[in-house]
Amino acid sequence: MSDRIASEKLRSKVMSADEAAQFVNAGDKVGMSGFTGAGYPKALPTAIANRAKEAHAAGSEYAIDLFTGASTAPDCDGVLAEADAVRFRMPYASDPIMRNKINEGKMGYSDIHLSHSGQYVENGFFGKLNVAIVEAVRITEEGHIVPSSSVGNNVEYLAAAEKIIIEVNSWQSLDLEGMHDIWNMPKLPNRIAIPISNAGDRIGKSYIEIDTDKVVAVVETNTPDRNAPFKPVDEVSQKIAGNFLDFLEGEVAAGRLSYDGYVMQSGVGNVPNAVMAGLLDSKFENIQAYTEVIQDGMVDLIDAGKMTVASATSFSLSPEYAEKMNNEAARYRESIILRPQQISNHPEVIRRVGLIATNGLIEADIYGNVNSTNVSGSRVMNGIGGSGDFTRNAYISSFITPSEAKGGAISAIVPFASHIDHTEHDVMVVISEYGYADLRGLAPRERVSKMIALAHPDYRPLLEEYYARATSGDNKFMQTPHDLATAFDFHRNLAKNGSMKSQDQLV
Ligand code: COA
Repeated sequence: MSDRIASEKLRSKVMSADEAAQFVNAGDKVGMSGFTGAGYPKALPTAIANRAKEAHAAGSEYAIDLFTGASTAPDCDGVLAEADAVRFRMPYASDPIMRNKINEGKMGYSDIHLSHSGQYVENGFFGKLNVAIVEAVRITEEGHIVPSSSVGNNVEYLAAAEKIIIEVNSWQSLDLEGMHDIWNMPKLPNRIAIPISNAGDRIGKSYIEIDTDKVVAVVETNTPDRNAPFKPVDEVSQKIAGNFLDFLEGEVAAGRLSYDGYVMQSGVGNVPNAVMAGLLDSKFENIQAYTEVIQDGMVDLIDAGKMTVASATSFSLSPEYAEKMNNEAARYRESIILRPQQISNHPEVIRRVGLIATNGLIEADIYGNVNSTNVSGSRVMNGIGGSGDFTRNAYISSFITPSEAKGGAISAIVPFASHIDHTEHDVMVVISEYGYADLRGLAPRERVSKMIALAHPDYRPLLEEYYARATSGDNKFMQTPHDLATAFDFHRNLAKNGSMKSQDQLV
């Protein structure tokens, strides 16, 4: 047995994953650790999926409601979805098999702000949490849990669950201990201010205290996190990164930012990661991150001495960088802090530290409304994640996107966003490979030419034609002019003809 389990009481609970899965019953609400492929349980999901398959083969129903920090990995979300073992999922998912089941209507999905999710579970908004399954680096003598490569909603799920299953993963570096900062949010009505003024402030403990009487099983694993590699930085991403830097330089020139005053939030995805590569050669120094996930680009900024501290709730690293983090965690814990996601994404702290939020998008419309989640209004891609937590409360909110997707068949700039996650009231700056649109201080009609300039040249005339229609004929209201009869023609063309560019007559 691993010497990572110091508590005698919990050592007596060690068993196989298949045995532990017997504590997870059909219909249970299960809260798991895990955030973007880091720190999720490695053995229980497959064991639960096998239970589901056996039950289904015998003609019985078996499915759970699954809550996590955010997305997980193929050996968690993927195996469970493939076995039809999930009835309902929240708050974020990006696994392709699970995405298909959700879009086929075979699974329910509640896509909510990440900062809300733990609190909602703790307060019973989803009913009673039956089981928490949490990955740990080690269990202390007192039975406290040292979390692994993510904290996510562990604190809330462990507090709320009737039963606890702990996976102790010896692949995770013991040197992660000391990187976490666990602060328990006092429950309503006894809330107090969160005592964080700067990204680097530490306010809590390095472990999570639990009620050890609730622990029904401890399972030992030795399995790597399954983070996906980032796409190589291409020409378009490089141009976007250049335009983002131009925008930052403009803020410095205007006296609204200093070269050593940049506090960053960077969303998940390939384009945000590419932007960080651009910062390596910039004039910005002493960058701080108060963000949700630590990606490869942030590790490079720390190594280059450009970033002094990164506060997040999880790693989201390529396999190569995850290995590096594991080998050098003792060094990195000097500059990296992992917090509960309720705190990493908390509006109060985000407002106080005054960060610049930068996230990806699916589409934005000519007035600056942003769709981060639903392709053509109906097909979910991943979810809103923390983009709402950060966008609404940032000092400056920005979005970065290539002007086109799917080889040019889809324009990222559309007449009317087919689903709106971030409204024109919250979106300040949008950036593509063609430049940046600074929407601050502009009335909706003043934003239109700036947004159209971000579109691919093939789409600009179509957008201009739309705006001309929206401001003529029977369309007489001029605050946010629209021609409702044709507002979704880009999307209708895509559905009918496979491209938003198509000029086919729609009926
Ligand atoms: N229609 C259809 N597909 C689209 C699309 C659109 N309008 N825009 C992007 N996509 C597809 C891309 O084609 C790509 O697909 P592929 O993986 O099959 O190649 C995929 O979405 C990712 O796009 P990419 O251009 O590589 O950007 P990204 O990795 O930065 O991801 C989002 C963009 C919007 C999917 C991603 O940022 C996201 O999920 N955002 C919501 C959550 C969030 O912002 N979290 C951060 C909070 S801290």
